[in-house]
Amino acid sequence: MPSGQFDKGESRKKNYMLPFRCKRWGECVLIALFADIHANRPAFEACLAAARAQGAASIVLLGDYVGYGGDPEWSVATVMDLVAQGAAAVRGNHDNAVGNPREQLNLEAQIAMEWTRNKLGTAERQFLAALPLTLSAGDYLYVHSEASNPSAWTYVRDVDDAIRSMKATSAHVTFCGHIHRPALYSISVTGKITAFTPSTNGPVPLLQGRRWLAVLGSVGQPRDGNPAAAYALFDTQTNILTYCRVPYDIDQAAGQIRKNGLPASLAERLYVGR
Ligand SMILES: [Fe+2]
Repeated sequence: MPSGQFDKGESRKKNYMLPFRCKRWGECVLIALFADIHANRPAFEACLAAARAQGAASIVLLGDYVGYGGDPEWSVATVMDLVAQGAAAVRGNHDNAVGNPREQLNLEAQIAMEWTRNKLGTAERQFLAALPLTLSAGDYLYVHSEASNPSAWTYVRDVDDAIRSMKATSAHVTFCGHIHRPALYSISVTGKITAFTPSTNGPVPLLQGRRWLAVLGSVGQPRDGNPAAAYALFDTQTNILTYCRVPYDIDQAAGQIRKNGLPASLAERLYVGR
């Protein structure tokens, strides 16, 4: 099929994991959150299926749907479908780079981005460009990167970054991605900070009286040494956040990268989660 002419109808027919039950994401109990999908179809499919099996009723997408990976058309079409069904989605720096060649990316990411631009059609480009940088829903803020200046695409690398992000909002919980490594920060009313790396499948109560910054791992290109796809579940009634991992077919994702002539290192890193 010529580049830029992805068969979206076919994509929708194959979206067997949809729909999730709840269309009004602000009112749902169990939210599934996904960050940094990066055009990794088998990883995103595995996460969606796992979240659905766990009872997720609503979806939040934290940006970087494209870049690095070999299935950008499917990835954007799927995100468009999810948003049409009520999911919340914000824009990541790679999504922004599709329509903005001045966006700074490293060399391998730049090569993948130039290929990605040619794969996406007008509707997909317009969709990505129109996504908001932040979304606010009650006590929650959704953003791709550090929240004090979302368009600067600053990584949350340490406590200082986390404090700056949390002080920029009154939200009880901010959810972000971008760095591809899970982390959880909080600040008390007296300014006491906690910071830790959350364990997989360990429920964490995000206590009232503190404000929280939940940094998600990456669906499609984990960088914490664990190659399994990462996502999170948040229960809005109990305020319990659970970081989840799910294995997926890395051979398939790596094969798509190689088949499309993208840098081999983008395939190899998937196996080691770096
Ligand atoms: Fe990313």
